[in-house]
Amino acid sequence: MTRIKTAAGAALAALVLSAALEASAAEKPAPPRAIDNFRWYCVQCHGPRGDGKGVNNSPAAKLPVNPRNLTDGKDMAQFSNEDMVRTITHGGGVNDLSAIMPPWGNVFTQAEIRALVAHVRKLCKCRFDPKAKERAMREAGKLLPEDPKPAGPEKKTPIQKKAPS
Ligand code: HEC
Repeated sequence: MTRIKTAAGAALAALVLSAALEASAAEKPAPPRAIDNFRWYCVQCHGPRGDGKGVNNSPAAKLPVNPRNLTDGKDMAQFSNEDMVRTITHGGGVNDLSAIMPPWGNVFTQAEIRALVAHVRKLCKCRFDPKAKERAMREAGKLLPEDPKPAGPEKKTPIQKKAPS
């Protein structure tokens, strides 16, 4: 019984080995897919589903800024693809966001970063909306009422303050 087991095991091992050798001779390993890069590097903070509930975001950690919920399409619509490429490459600080979002420019190629952005777009099921960006900037106090709009030709008269009576 043991002998059969061993023989079968040896045959199987030989088969696996030859298959592996054949594969490595024929082709280079495929570059990692965006979803694998995401699962390896991003889930600790953004969570396996991208909802921002990664292990680093436990209440005990008391992060001053929560990792974004990448599945919130309404919120994520404020970021253009270029915004995301910049943030992922250079870290949150470059876009005036939290530096808790680390820079990945030395980890990934630009092509891999663009693939990650495409993956984030799948998670949020959203497109860039300049109006959402403007709203978010105003809410964050990064845009004052009298500042020109960041996008769109439309002009509005500034809000008149009432003179003290
Ligand atoms: C150490 C925790 C951490 C890790 C790891 C992390 N992030 Fe973030 N990320 C954050 C935080 C915090 C924010 C929110 C920053 C803010 O709003 O000020 C953020 C925001 C973002 C945003 C939205 C902001 C923008 O300008 O696009 C995207 C997209 C993003 N992260 C993608 C990723 C990807 C892709 C990875 C993996 C390569 C990743 N993050 C890994 C913490 C993290």
